[in-house]
Amino acid sequence: MGNNPKSPSSPKGGHPQASRESQRTQDIRKLAAYIQSEKCKNIVLMLGAGCSTSSGIPDFRSPKTGLYSNLARLKLPHPEAVFEINFFRRNPVPFYTLAAELYPGNFRPSPTHSFVKLLSSHGLLKMCFTQNIDTLERRAGVPSDKIIEAHGSFAEQRCVDCKTPFPDDEMRDIVLGDRPEAEEVRIPRCKRAKCGGLVKPDIVFFGEALPENFIRNIPVVGYADLLLIIGTSLTVHPFASLANMADRRTCQRVLINLETVGDLGRRPNDIVLLGECDAIVRELCEALGWGEELERTWAETALDGKTDEAKEKLEEKVEDEEKEKEEREEVLEHEVEKITESIGKRLDLDETKDSDADAAKGSFDMSTSAVKQGEPLEQTPEPAKSSNDGKL
Ligand code: OAD
Repeated sequence: MGNNPKSPSSPKGGHPQASRESQRTQDIRKLAAYIQSEKCKNIVLMLGAGCSTSSGIPDFRSPKTGLYSNLARLKLPHPEAVFEINFFRRNPVPFYTLAAELYPGNFRPSPTHSFVKLLSSHGLLKMCFTQNIDTLERRAGVPSDKIIEAHGSFAEQRCVDCKTPFPDDEMRDIVLGDRPEAEEVRIPRCKRAKCGGLVKPDIVFFGEALPENFIRNIPVVGYADLLLIIGTSLTVHPFASLANMADRRTCQRVLINLETVGDLGRRPNDIVLLGECDAIVRELCEALGWGEELERTWAETALDGKTDEAKEKLEEKVEDEEKEKEEREEVLEHEVEKITESIGKRLDLDETKDSDADAAKGSFDMSTSAVKQGEPLEQTPEPAKSSNDGKL
């Protein structure tokens, strides 16, 4: 069922672009047939920033448009420094300058997010792993117990030293509220007596541990019948390593992205669908007979036509779901404490592609393979190359 994106076949005298498109259409039809077959019961997703670009949120590494290409004004030693915990401790100003632009608010989910909801409502979604901190999966209506926000989110914040939570409304006011001077950045500080440490949203910074629920759910990838990887450069580990956890005998891997990434396309049955993810999921939904349902589901996410009351209800629903999820996670936290201690995972950047041998080693090796691929960020020297190559 696979294809090889690097050598698109074109009939003699035929137009290569037309040939690529017909290959894409064929692959989409085959994929739709697989999704509708008895074999495909558990679909796992890996999402990245490309899913949200049509919502108006830039990705990180696209040349020219990506966030990391547009940070000169912050005078950083290298662009990723804005999300590095050690740099943040020394200088939180760049992060808080950017926070107002990234803060979840009036962004509308994309058709790709609504597709995830459809997979869930059709009983096919096993788990949606997302690197995105924009909470648009929730806003699209994907149930919170099917979402793993691997790099955290802006939902809560706490002191980086004593971990005391900081109130949501005050945080929102500091990040989004009026400032006396246009240039002035307000930095939230811990309110606990004698602490006064820096406050940071619960976004996973480079050099920090990933959330327990990410670690806990890693084995889910091993049970996937279909792994859909959408809108990610697969440069940040350990998240990127999940792609190699898919069982090569039983799992169909599919990449939907503007460019080829990771080792997608290397397994004989991989499918690589290159292009705008919204266009591809629309075509896939047509092939599945879900075309109208997708548009209806996506239309429900529009905030424009909604009254303030409806908007507030939507906000409240998202917040309630977040709180419920956190409560459930707290109960489980104790159980996984020992596991996470022994794993000691850190967020790491690495463009080195995982070898087939790593993939063959099986589920629980993913964490060690990610650690092997690169030193923890805070121990890595200043970058020798530009950030767009993803190496530090
Ligand atoms: P990147 O910016 O690294 O990659 C986005 C990918 O999506 C690229 O391969 C783009 O070509 C592709 N893309 C962009 N728009 C698209 C579209 N409309 N349709 C299809 N593909 C599209 O973003 P991530 O891989 O998500 O971490 O980045 C991973 C992590 O790096 C982020 O979570 C963030 C960052 O540093 C933290 O902040 C901790």
